Amino acid sequence: MESIYTTTGIKAEADRIEKDSVHVFAPATVANMVCGFDVLGFALNEPGDEVIMCKADRQGVHIVNITGDDGRLPREAAKNTVSASVMSFLQYIDRTDVGVEIELHKQMPIGSGLGSSAASTVAGLFAINTLLGSPLSRQELLPFAIQGEELACGHGHADNVAPSLLGGITLIRGYDPLDVVALPVPSELYTSVVFPYVDVPTRDARQMIRAKVALKDAVIQWGNIAGLVAGLFTSDYHLIGRSMQDVLIEPTRAILIPEFYEMRRLAMEAGALGFGISGSGPSVFAFAQSKDIATHITSVVQAHLAGQGIDSNGYVSGINTEGPKEIQGREE
Ligand code: HSE
Repeated sequence: MESIYTTTGIKAEADRIEKDSVHVFAPATVANMVCGFDVLGFALNEPGDEVIMCKADRQGVHIVNITGDDGRLPREAAKNTVSASVMSFLQYIDRTDVGVEIELHKQMPIGSGLGSSAASTVAGLFAINTLLGSPLSRQELLPFAIQGEELACGHGHADNVAPSLLGGITLIRGYDPLDVVALPVPSELYTSVVFPYVDVPTRDARQMIRAKVALKDAVIQWGNIAGLVAGLFTSDYHLIGRSMQDVLIEPTRAILIPEFYEMRRLAMEAGALGFGISGSGPSVFAFAQSKDIATHITSVVQAHLAGQGIDSNGYVSGINTEGPKEIQGREE
């Protein structure tokens, strides 16, 4: 377990008060932000997953209930990303004496491109850390969350777990060693997210990407990443928008998403700053400079999909700067 890494602009916390049970929400995320494959991501206000975790008399980590997954997630502790990352955490802090029971309530579809496994894993890690009085900072939980991603989809990328855990917009400047940078969130930035009911497993969507890229494409891509980051620092909404171009991954993955280019055309016509695939898809997202415009984009894109006979979920959200949080008064 890699535990030494740097972060910039992210606060730590510790309260040291143990609890018997906690109820935690962790947010969905949009990874890649179009041009930043595996290095950029941000957190949404909704949807998100919930974990209820209780100390138990019996030893070990036990999944006692999962809802909202249509029976698709493993119940066996070593195979489920939530329980497996909780087990790694307990080993790391030398508290394998603690027994816990976990309920996972999924509130977003699996394979949606909204960081579904990341939100569950982050909720579980935030819950166990809170239960034990926050012995680790949020930043220190990150390597365990990355391990969870590896278990979920075969690759330990951090562009969903980092923003879900830390909130806001994050840059993974490097993976070895892990170097995570919190980026500024421009105040007028809103997101429209649409999830068409098509299953695109991240594992499959990663396997289809080319392993090598042409230098001329790399130049376009890193120009856009730098432009997007510069736009976030200066709240230059038009620079943000014109930097949201992906010449490396999107052309391949767009094939898996019905109506992708028509959705983009309609979103841009409806006032989007930029538009692209959320994570590995099939969800798509747009940035807009107001909540009204983001709402309009969501309804235009969803109406188009409905006209094509494709059901969808739509969301309108600001950027969630809080990350996971304890839900008070709803313990069961
Ligand atoms: N960066 C990852 C990918 C995110 O695009 O495969 C998966 O949600």
